[in-house]
Amino acid sequence: MWTATPAARIRAKSSPVYQREKMKFMLSLPLFSLLFLCAAQTLGVKIQSSQPVNSAGVIHTELEQTVSLLCMSDSHSGAPDDELVWLRNDELVQLKEENKKGKSSVCVTPVLLDDNGATFTCRLSTNATDTTSVTLKVTYGPQLSGSEEVTAEEESTLVLKCNIFANPPVSSVSWTLNGSLVDLQAGGLTVVNDGRTSQLTARSLRKGLHEGTYLCTAQSPMYGNYSRSFTVTVQEKTVKFPLIPLIAGLVVVFLTSLLAVVSRWKKIIKCCK
Ligand SMILES: *[C@@H]1O[C@H](CO)[C@@H](O)[C@H](O)[C@H]1NC(C)=O
Ligand SMILES: *[C@@H]1O[C@H](CO)[C@@H](O)[C@H](O)[C@H]1NC(C)=O
Repeated sequence: MWTATPAARIRAKSSPVYQREKMKFMLSLPLFSLLFLCAAQTLGVKIQSSQPVNSAGVIHTELEQTVSLLCMSDSHSGAPDDELVWLRNDELVQLKEENKKGKSSVCVTPVLLDDNGATFTCRLSTNATDTTSVTLKVTYGPQLSGSEEVTAEEESTLVLKCNIFANPPVSSVSWTLNGSLVDLQAGGLTVVNDGRTSQLTARSLRKGLHEGTYLCTAQSPMYGNYSRSFTVTVQEKTVKFPLIPLIAGLVVVFLTSLLAVVSRWKKIIKCCK
């Protein structure tokens, strides 16, 4: 019965073009009816996205990108003017009044680290059983770049840190000194990776052994290599003066000699009388 409407609309036109269109329409009828039935069975709300949604309802995106989602209440459910509600991880999204009836869009911009795994759900405000959701999967390489100058004293402890946090996790991290892999044993170095940070520690620094350019490189299985360099200068140990006692001492010496001069001056004046 439902084919009557589009067929009738086409029949109303009589030009040859429309005749051909009608033929095409007839030929594609089985497919058309199939699509129609599918749409009719998913009653209620639908989400359309600016980026592809996979069969599990996941949208793959990256940092700094924009994802816009449009929710529509299905007019076949009989209430096209029903108000729509958006939730982000079960928390209500604040919508403007004009963004609620029949259609409602939300825009995630820019996509942040925190949006990884966030689920956006749309439903009618009047019927909580009829919902549809999409989940964001945000991938990113480690925030690792640039260079740094580091000055440290001989015999002190040097700590260098690299941010290796990424999704998917980095597959490897390496540290080089002047272009060759650091020699942990010979250099008395330790490297600790905890999934977020890679930390190289060098105890009891020696100029000949530890000075040079360190490079930490993390490999992302999705985005390739990221690195940061540290140019380390090892300085001779400086003898630290205890400054406050030194000043106090100088003041005492100054006052004492001043007193001495004053008393001598009195004596001198006495003599001259
Ligand atoms: C809510 O939606 C579901 C699924 O579409 C439907 O079966 C149910 O009757 C609706 N409830 C109300 C109160 O409209
Ligand atoms: C690394 O290279 C610098 C500059 O050429 C050099 O001064 C330093 O001694 C080298 N470091 C090591 C450990 O060989």
